[in-house]
Amino acid sequence: MEQAREQWGTRVGFLLAAIGSAIGLGNIWRYPYVAYENGGGAFLIPYFIALATAGIPILILEYALGHSTRGSGPKAYRSIRERWEWLGWWQLAVSFVIATYYMVILGWALSYTYFAIGTQWGEDTDAFFFESYLGVGEEFWSLGGIQLSVLVPVLIMWAAVYFVLLRGVRRGIELASRILMPVLVIMLIAIVIRGVTLPGAAEGLNVLLTPDFSALLDGTVWIAAYGQVFFTLSIAFAIMIAYSSYLPRRTDLSNNGFIAALSNCSFEFLAALGVFAVLGFLAVQQNVAVDEVATSGIGLAFIAFPSIINQFPALNSLFGVLFYGSLVFAGFTSAISILEAIISGVRDKFGLSRTGAVNLVCGAAFLVSLIYTTGGGIGFLDIVDHFINNYGLVLSGLVQVLLVGWIARELPRLRDHINRVSDVYVGAWWTISLRFITPLILGAATAYNIYEELSAAYGDYPVSALLTLGGGVALGAVIIGFVLSMPRWRGTETTG
Ligand code: PHE
Ligand code: NA
Repeated sequence: MEQAREQWGTRVGFLLAAIGSAIGLGNIWRYPYVAYENGGGAFLIPYFIALATAGIPILILEYALGHSTRGSGPKAYRSIRERWEWLGWWQLAVSFVIATYYMVILGWALSYTYFAIGTQWGEDTDAFFFESYLGVGEEFWSLGGIQLSVLVPVLIMWAAVYFVLLRGVRRGIELASRILMPVLVIMLIAIVIRGVTLPGAAEGLNVLLTPDFSALLDGTVWIAAYGQVFFTLSIAFAIMIAYSSYLPRRTDLSNNGFIAALSNCSFEFLAALGVFAVLGFLAVQQNVAVDEVATSGIGLAFIAFPSIINQFPALNSLFGVLFYGSLVFAGFTSAISILEAIISGVRDKFGLSRTGAVNLVCGAAFLVSLIYTTGGGIGFLDIVDHFINNYGLVLSGLVQVLLVGWIARELPRLRDHINRVSDVYVGAWWTISLRFITPLILGAATAYNIYEELSAAYGDYPVSALLTLGGGVALGAVIIGFVLSMPRWRGTETTG
């Protein structure tokens, strides 16, 4: 039986959910370092150009795809060209892979929120993380069994995510975003104020903001800017397609896109100030240059930050709880969005109830996520993350703009749709960005990634691991995309 599609309760509710998806771990632990490494203050130039020529145009494109077809990724692409349903499943397969380890990192962040009380990680924060907490073994392939210390927080995060998703779009996702996002912003502001008032903060901020304009002549800086913009806005995951399929018929698309993108950037800039202020403090405490302590990702969050918090003049536990709590909150709304995109696709195609689809998707993702709770899980996680980002996300984003801009030539129709419903008129800038600029840059980025891959093996991992795990997930996602597009369409019919 055809059920009415779920809908957001309010425009603000949709916006907060979209911003909640965008603001994630990437804003806190990825952006600051990417900016520092790629020209410091000068990075703002490629960053804003990437935002204007790819980030915001694709965001609005995805809103239009979801809204005009009232469908998740597979349904939206199928509405454009029946044979292209597989692209939707490919993007959802990429989302699935990312969801499985994203949930585990959330579990770590939850553990560290607790460890922050009385700085339970001790002095050697490196050994604490890898040996005591994760239980990493000697050999890459020896998984070493599930670690209870990791399994418990991961289970808690899964239970929370499951609960929100079962409640649905309005009473679950929208409500959670309305509560968590404002709290998150307050937490970030508190972190930044504490950070910039620490001794040494100015050194850190100098290193972050001093512009190196020669970086603008370096192609890799531009690739980094486009890569960051893709990741940070959650585009090419088919997430925004699903979220905008729940918008009412009469709604704004373009202005919402601008607001969501600019909110996400503001959060990113603020977080960068906080992170580099705190790194400046660490450098001064240890009497070294800021460059020696600057890192990102897992190393920043779970090794550098604990040792920084140890050296705080006062209130270390409070700062620790705020920092890890903000990782949990930021990541939680992103995890919800990535799972909802898949749930939405499964419901559209197979006509499942929400409960059925949530059980299926969360159940499967939960089982896979257990791999990362084993002692050897972190090596797996690092490899899978590298390959799925470079060869799943970027490549499916490239195929997406080629399909819409060149193969199906849908841009004029989508632009009319946007302009019919939106507050802000979208003009030639949008079409030119999507037809020419984005495909060129993404094509160059892919070629460069492949060149890098072939010239040096990623990390210190065995080549067997890179080929099977990394190559496996990257290729597997495409194959799964094709496989899932094959069964007969049983759910809500496609329009168009
Ligand atoms: N936009 C998120 C970030 O900046 C990344 C993300 C995308 C996470 C999609 C989950 C789903 O961290
Ligand atoms: Na983001």
